[in-house]
Amino acid sequence: MFEGTDRIWMDGEFVDFEDAQTHVLTHALHYGTGVFEGVRCYDTEQGPAIFRWEEHLDRLYKSAKPYDLDIEFSKAELTEATTELIETEGFESCYIRPIVYYGFDSLGVSPKSCPTKTTIAAWPWGAYLGEEALEEGVDVMVSSWRKHASSQIPTNIKTTGLYVNSMLAGEEARRNGYTEAIVLNKEGNVAEGPGENIFMVRDGEIYTPGLAESILEGITRNTAITLAEEMGYTVHEEATISRGELYTADELFFTGTAAEVTPIRSVDDNEIGEGTKGPVTDELQSAFFDVIESGDREEWFHYV
Ligand SMILES: Cc1ncc(COP(=O)(O)O)c(C=O)c1O
Repeated sequence: MFEGTDRIWMDGEFVDFEDAQTHVLTHALHYGTGVFEGVRCYDTEQGPAIFRWEEHLDRLYKSAKPYDLDIEFSKAELTEATTELIETEGFESCYIRPIVYYGFDSLGVSPKSCPTKTTIAAWPWGAYLGEEALEEGVDVMVSSWRKHASSQIPTNIKTTGLYVNSMLAGEEARRNGYTEAIVLNKEGNVAEGPGENIFMVRDGEIYTPGLAESILEGITRNTAITLAEEMGYTVHEEATISRGELYTADELFFTGTAAEVTPIRSVDDNEIGEGTKGPVTDELQSAFFDVIESGDREEWFHYV
């Protein structure tokens, strides 16, 4: 249950939670024409710090580009608004949701006359798939829904409309008693989770689908690749992974801002490895949480 927050930043000003409204004829509501980010601020040893804020901001602007969404605020203005929001809400850690979308003017599919709206909300949010998931791993199913090809809609960026596919896949999994889904791409190879990138460990090396496999260019994916390479692992970051390889993998794990580094313990009721968090996943997850807790990797944090 979402308990609400005091204020939300909308188009240049802070408004009370109840007043953060948009018109029912908003273009984005009808056609999914918004772009957004999901970011975490962590309570680090250096105080509250936004993890990989610059990269999230860059992706927001990149996401806006193909849709001609002209973000009316500079990166500096969005940064100031976000840090002020976190400070005034008194959060030590939180999830941050910037969204930019076409507002209301005409309901033609062309949004050209619609204003661009920009909003930032923040609220406390714990482990996305549950604390236990981080330790024990999750049971997942391969969804019957396929991910759109990037020739149909850009998949490397974060568009609101894309998430109907994520919703269908995730809800199908949960209806069938699984925690999360894995979505295959149009070719039938592994793409990603509904809100996570996926990694496979085989014979001590790490594999993750490349950008041409219809995946979001995940920032946690990049964090995991960087940390794994620093730890000496070979990472194949442009891999094509077949469905069959999932079942025979030594280890599988998800990465994402919300999911962080979450082990996958079974796929379609087939145990992965020993059916627990594998050793490589464990090492990488520890390295990830060490960074998050210490907050001392300056290039990755924006201190509030
Ligand atoms: C479809 C999808 N894939 C992957 C990710 C992971 O991306 P990130 O690590 O940037 O949060 C997300 C989360 O935003 C997502 O929604």
